[in-house]
Amino acid sequence: MEIKPRILIVDDEEIVLDSCSQILEGSGYATRTATDGSIGLRQVAEFRPDLVFVDLKMPGISGFEVLERIRTLDPSIVTIVITGYATLASAVEAMQKGAYDFLPKPFTPDEFRLITRRGIEKRELVLETIALRREKELLQENFAAIISHELRAPLSAVQQNLIRLMQELSDQVNEAQMARLERMKSRIYDLLEMIHTWLRAISSDIASIKENFGPTSVEAAISKAVENVYPYAVRKDIEIVVSIEEPLDPVHGDEGTLVEALVNLLGNAIRYSRSGSTVNVDAEQQTDHILVAVRDSGIGIAEDELPYIFGNFYRGRAGAGDEAGAGLGLPITRRIIEAHGGTISVTSKLGEGSTFVIALPAGGSGTGTHHTPEAGGPENPQGGRAT
Ligand SMILES: Nc1ncnc2c1ncn2[C@@H]1O[C@H](COP(=O)(O)OP(=O)(O)OP(=O)(O)O)[C@@H](O)[C@H]1O
Ligand SMILES: [Mg+2]
Repeated sequence: MEIKPRILIVDDEEIVLDSCSQILEGSGYATRTATDGSIGLRQVAEFRPDLVFVDLKMPGISGFEVLERIRTLDPSIVTIVITGYATLASAVEAMQKGAYDFLPKPFTPDEFRLITRRGIEKRELVLETIALRREKELLQENFAAIISHELRAPLSAVQQNLIRLMQELSDQVNEAQMARLERMKSRIYDLLEMIHTWLRAISSDIASIKENFGPTSVEAAISKAVENVYPYAVRKDIEIVVSIEEPLDPVHGDEGTLVEALVNLLGNAIRYSRSGSTVNVDAEQQTDHILVAVRDSGIGIAEDELPYIFGNFYRGRAGAGDEAGAGLGLPITRRIIEAHGGTISVTSKLGEGSTFVIALPAGGSGTGTHHTPEAGGPENPQGGRAT
């Protein structure tokens, strides 16, 4: 059986209630009426309407209060205010407070039918959005579970068995066979690393690093990060030049994840640069912030791609062909920096190079005064900020 959309009308004029009920009769709606605000609110709890019409001017609880309470009870319920000419200004105010639309008195049956239909359509959209959001969350949660349980565990078992087998067979296989086993081992290692990165990008453990925050030296984090990517830079014949305007205040943070964020930025700078070029790391103190800039003169990022690069799994056009990557380094980096109360921004020019700037609150205040937009992705393209 099809479920009828439920409509509640709250108005102190019985004649309005009667005519509204009559208009909607036979139109496939379930309708209820209430002659004042408190009856109306009871009906909201019992009847669970999809759409509520509320007269703004009623004795007893005001229409505004009814609207407000409906919003706290269930913000997905669509509300439309009924107003006399004199209360048009209040209608605007009601809409600013979340009412979807207003219906001026007197109205014709057609006007009432039309606004009802639009209200119900709005309610369907609201419910659909909630369902989609929930589905997306479930998908993310399940994705993490699938990867960690169904993939990581068996792969780790394969890895351990392979390592044991290689030890046991070390004097029975020839060199070519051993090389093949080594390749298997290395491919499995890469896969496990990739799974680890995926899990890191979608799991909530970055948010929980705050529990271990303490005074952290940015200089130390920079030097550990440079040390970490050094072999990679050498292989590509890229020089890393660090310049720190000392002294820098410590930040309130976690060294391990700060190093991870810097390694991601430095890794990108090296990966997306031509061999023989230079990557610069500059750090300086600015009243209440520490700025760290990672600058390269590499391939750069096209302007139309900048808003997307902080989204999960996004890989740019220019570099994707020649180098393997998951497209997770920047989103993870951003989550780390934001967990520190900081911001990250980027400037880049295709073919000329890129500069990523991290701003961290200095002196362990832990509260950023800069703000970056919400996490972005291709469907929510506000990820980065070109400054
Ligand atoms: N310094 C840079 N120069 C040019 N392009 C860059 C730079 N840093 C990031 N990008 C672009 O942004 C995209 C996203 O970067 P991100 O670090 O998130 O992923 P990735 O490097 O592709 O993979 P990984 O997950 O291994 O880091 C890259 O694919 C690249 O196109
Ligand atoms: Mg990267």
